Amino acid sequence: MARIPKELVDHIIQTADIVEVVGDFVQLKRKGQNLWAPCPFHNEKSPSFSVNPAKSLYKCFGCGKAGGVVQFVMDVEGTSYVEALKYLAKKYAIEIQEEEKTPQQQLEQNERDSQFIVSDFAKNHYHRLLLNSEEGMSIGYGYLKERGLNLSTIQTFELGYSLDAWDDLMKAAETAGFDKKYLEKTGLTVIRTDDQGKDTGRRYDRFRGRVMFPIHNISGRVVGFGARTLKRDDKMAKYLNSPESEIYHKSDVLYGLFQARQAIRTQEVCYLVEGYLDVLSLYQGGIKNVVASSGTSLTEGQIRLIKRYSDNVTVLYDGDAAGIKASLRGTDLLLEGGLNVRVVLFPDGDDPDSYIRKVGDQRFTEYIETKSQDFISFKTTLVAREASGDPVKKAEAIRDVLHSIAKVPDAIKRQVFLQQTSGIFGIDEQVLITEYNKLVKSPGAAAKPSGPPDNRGNYGNGAGSANSGFPPSSNPRSAPSPRPMTDEEEAEMLMYGGAEAAAALQGMSAGFPSGAAQKEEEEDLPDMLKVCEREVLRLLVLYAPREVEEEISVAAYLLGQLDEAPLKTPLFAEMWEICRQELLAGRFPDARLLAQNEREDIRQLITDLATERYEISPNWRTKEIYVFNEVDLPKLACDNAVLRLNKVHVQRELDRAMDRLRLPGLDDVEMFEILGNIKNLKLLDNQLAGMLGTVIPRGT
Ligand code: CTP
Ligand code: MN
Repeated sequence: MARIPKELVDHIIQTADIVEVVGDFVQLKRKGQNLWAPCPFHNEKSPSFSVNPAKSLYKCFGCGKAGGVVQFVMDVEGTSYVEALKYLAKKYAIEIQEEEKTPQQQLEQNERDSQFIVSDFAKNHYHRLLLNSEEGMSIGYGYLKERGLNLSTIQTFELGYSLDAWDDLMKAAETAGFDKKYLEKTGLTVIRTDDQGKDTGRRYDRFRGRVMFPIHNISGRVVGFGARTLKRDDKMAKYLNSPESEIYHKSDVLYGLFQARQAIRTQEVCYLVEGYLDVLSLYQGGIKNVVASSGTSLTEGQIRLIKRYSDNVTVLYDGDAAGIKASLRGTDLLLEGGLNVRVVLFPDGDDPDSYIRKVGDQRFTEYIETKSQDFISFKTTLVAREASGDPVKKAEAIRDVLHSIAKVPDAIKRQVFLQQTSGIFGIDEQVLITEYNKLVKSPGAAAKPSGPPDNRGNYGNGAGSANSGFPPSSNPRSAPSPRPMTDEEEAEMLMYGGAEAAAALQGMSAGFPSGAAQKEEEEDLPDMLKVCEREVLRLLVLYAPREVEEEISVAAYLLGQLDEAPLKTPLFAEMWEICRQELLAGRFPDARLLAQNEREDIRQLITDLATERYEISPNWRTKEIYVFNEVDLPKLACDNAVLRLNKVHVQRELDRAMDRLRLPGLDDVEMFEILGNIKNLKLLDNQLAGMLGTVIPRGT
């Protein structure tokens, strides 16, 4: 993809006025500092969508969508980052000189464009044949009518018909002046080879005598075709599809998404079906938020596509057992992608297309609404029923479900699912949780095991948990062995702020015996640690240039305090590093620019940090004491956050020391060492608690 130089990106972002940009899509009304409108991303009557012109951010308090001006264009138009920038550049008449392309890149660009153009030509050709040729009208159009599709649906999806001839498309393309190599590249023609696989030089049309379903990418360009035969011939594949090409990557396309995207957004759910005709029938029945995986199992790319528009997916399955089994596999991937998955089963023998034609739109919608159930309980009920009466099978079934639960990224949801599952199987929740923990901890478990449902140590404190020391000490020098603190040291710690506490901690941690394995999996991080790290990061991002004391900015202060003990949550750590680099380059991290970062996770994080809490209540100053403190007393806020973070570290270290104490086969020396450690840690913990008591009281 073409790159836009960074300076130009910044220029576009600085120029774009978020009020104007958003104003093209909704009617904004000023209330206080912000402007408000009904949210363009979900259905609502009273406005909970706000735009903050000063920060150049938008946020919906209903659906939670938030971001900067580029993100808004991406969300509302469903485009990529670069496309959104181009959109804005066009709006503000900023000329984009894309970075010099090498001749090779230019060639590739032209190649792709030519393939798009020839695909578009073929689509128009097939469409014309369907509606204007004798064969197309009688066979193709006749068939579609028989399947209940009307002209408007046919036009919306640009359906077509390919003549039952060897070279109709080839001839038409030649007459129109197309280089035939593009027909080959897009798979519209097939290269005839001899027995040895050598090109015979002969070509023929791939699609002949079939109803054509153009496949669009999300900007509406045709990238390939599905084609259904109308002959009752068992030897012939019912569907022929375009092969992969430079413009058609099957794993990144969903049939119908181009037509469905607005509806998915407003209905806040995406229906996922298997076939082209399922999409068409539902769409025609007014259920427009529907896409098809086109018979293949879902891919991560497709899931990412869905997530652009909604976090909710309802899978509409055929009722037959084989179909269900096959689809179950793809669904774990949906869970892994963080989507909320629901399932609807149709009566045996029916697919969504046949069912909607049988019962009509109204009853179909009711059916979906009443019969959909969340995926985990669906799967649980299914496997529980199959395994009933057979304890061995039941154990297997339980593990199967636990595997699915492990795929759910959200810890709270996992917990809810575990509760449900224990109910359905009729086994004790604690037993299930133990089983779950075994599963996610065993090395051969799920490919991407998520953490235990509760990271606060309630679950998964098993002896096997191989925790490492903290913090990842950058200096493996042998530090003083742990000893109780002297009174002076204690006094010193109490008198100074978080920096000294951090330094003291640093010294202590170096003395821990288990310095070896420092790499930590994200899923092992306790929630509390993430909360505290997030808070430090939030202060850094929001108040970077403010002074904590003369000449010392919040950014310098925080970065200095935690320099030796970097954040452990991977995304936060990356963000931290970005800020550090900015500071090193003599700039302050700027939330406004960061919120436009190329990476989605970073954009999301920044906008979350920048918008949380403060936008909620317009008169927060009178209501929320800690905000008052934070804005006026940044040093206190920083110290408070750092102390809290340090306290979490100490708590974790304490937990670990306790665990170590329980290990079998410790000798006396080891035992005393650990006990010494624990004593120090407790002392430190108390001191930190004391210091926190003197700083801002604050409910988390
Ligand atoms: N499919 C395919 N190749 C096949 C069979 C199926 O690519 N040989 C894909 C198509 O995308 C098809 C989907 O799998 O739409 C579902 O298959 P099926 O249920 O057999 O087709 P329907 O779309 O239901 O078509 P029809 O109702 O006309 O049989
Ligand atoms: Mn069908």
